[in-house]
Amino acid sequence: MRTGYNVAIDGPAGAGKSTIARRIAKKMNFIYVDTGAMYRAMALYLLRKGVAPTDAGRIADACGEADISIEYRDGEQVVLLNGENVNAYLRTEEVGSMASYSSAVPEVREKLVELQRKLAEKADVVMDGRDIGTVVLPDANVKVYLTASASTRAKRRYLELLEKGETPNLSQIEQKIMERDYQDMHREHSPLCQAEDAVLVDSSDMTIDEVVERITSLCR
Ligand code: DC
Repeated sequence: MRTGYNVAIDGPAGAGKSTIARRIAKKMNFIYVDTGAMYRAMALYLLRKGVAPTDAGRIADACGEADISIEYRDGEQVVLLNGENVNAYLRTEEVGSMASYSSAVPEVREKLVELQRKLAEKADVVMDGRDIGTVVLPDANVKVYLTASASTRAKRRYLELLEKGETPNLSQIEQKIMERDYQDMHREHSPLCQAEDAVLVDSSDMTIDEVVERITSLCR
């Protein structure tokens, strides 16, 4: 039985879900659950094992060997892969790309959805991902579909990389974002889509503060 207050935020890559969800969690004193990080930890395990992204059979077999769990240290989510804190390895393009393939495999989803539901059962959570409002927490108290145009998302990513001292290529970034959208929206199992009862928030012309305010007002 669900006793926690659950906020579900879904949307495409680069829409700002994690930044927004983290802020809302802090503001409302809820726990932030980053489900993308769990899929990334599974992808890291598969990459380390040398499994090919397109080998769904081996992915289905190998995912049973990966023990993924979550801890909170100083309020931050720490993902443990067979006991190892792997947070530092999750945010690379290689891991993100593998995650996009491996997250399409039903055995991977089953395992991680179970963990996500357990986390949301007892605690007040803000959970972000692709299928939270549609599959993981269909009874969430508040559901948001957070999106932004591909060009806005590409520009944000471009500026982030510039700030890191890299020399990014804007049109390549936009191309990658569109490929990732296509893959996440067209897979057979739990594709990214807006739940019927989710509120659409398009952040293309909104500041972070405005988006946070809009979503917290939905929770009040
Ligand atoms: O949000 P992210 O970039 O960290 O997600 C990485 C990949 O994991 C993304 O390609 C889609 C997948 N994912 C998913 O299928 N379901 C979720 N609830 C979260 C992420």
